[in-house]
Amino acid sequence: MSLFASDKNLALELVRGTEAAVMASGRWMGRGDKNEVDRAAVEAMRYMLNTVSMRGTVVIGEGEKDEAPMLFNGEKLGTGEGPEIDIAVDPIDGTRLMANGLSGAISVVAAADHDALFSPGNLFYLDKIVTGPDAADFIDIDAPVHVNIRRVAKAKNKAVDDVTVVMLNRPRNEALREEVCKVGARIRLIPDGDIAGALTTCWANGSTADLLLGSGGSPEAVITACAIKCLGGNMQCKPYFRNEEDEENAKGRGIDRHTVLELDDLVKGDNVFFAATGASDGDLLKGVAYRGAHIHTWSLCMRGKSGTVRYIEAVHSPKKLSLLGSAIDYGSRH
Ligand code: FBP
Repeated sequence: MSLFASDKNLALELVRGTEAAVMASGRWMGRGDKNEVDRAAVEAMRYMLNTVSMRGTVVIGEGEKDEAPMLFNGEKLGTGEGPEIDIAVDPIDGTRLMANGLSGAISVVAAADHDALFSPGNLFYLDKIVTGPDAADFIDIDAPVHVNIRRVAKAKNKAVDDVTVVMLNRPRNEALREEVCKVGARIRLIPDGDIAGALTTCWANGSTADLLLGSGGSPEAVITACAIKCLGGNMQCKPYFRNEEDEENAKGRGIDRHTVLELDDLVKGDNVFFAATGASDGDLLKGVAYRGAHIHTWSLCMRGKSGTVRYIEAVHSPKKLSLLGSAIDYGSRH
């Protein structure tokens, strides 16, 4: 079969799900209600992803079946025709950012072959190291921080004090932050949203960071890994245990404090699709904008097999969408 006959770029359809999520939840920006941000995003994303020709199963969602309005693990998405695919979603990564009117929130969906995605189970956090294609071969999560920073600097032909490390601002990342300071690299601390943070390390020109370090959510790590597969950078993770119970639970799965999850452990193969849309303005993407009769969105859409990365700027007409029978409430008064 020819390349193109066998190929379907699911990301081009998934992006409609992330666009819908930000258009619906963007109305709640800065209004202090995290639950409404999530609810609007989840409902819109579910509705839109159910129109995609695929037999999708959510393997990384949020919450359990009875905790509506989340997309729950095991939930089937799509029309029931087309490729059988596992789906990882974060309808809004950075719900707190959105609720508080801050920058850096995005909506994301990733998809990969059945059983290709690492299942975080009750491993809530992972230590992460992420960099873009230039330094992809030079990072090692087991090496000291100064070694990783120096290697990245060398690979990118920059001075160590020109290297920018992005990390989540959390007490658990404080020791790491001090190590980075000692080496003399710059730090971009983000309050939330380490998927977007990680991806800002991946652009040859215009990257706002060179390296992501520190622990963040495990589901977000798997979603990030899908994007890295498409972009050609590298990522490694190790478990971050909050307490002995976490460590015990992981042992049952053969995971201990020495386990290193390479990019291929986080997502197998390259039949991977990724779509993200900006919810609030950020370094990665502009946030949804409501302009009279139209809503504007800015998205990233990519595929592992081809490595094609698309930026999609879309202009939506809520009035026409509702005439088409869309059940999503975009809150337009036009
Ligand atoms: P959500 O908005 O999806 O809840 O995640 C925000 C986030 O900042 C992620 O980007 C990050 O991986 C995770 O939370 C970190 O978790 P915690 O806030 O518990 O440290």
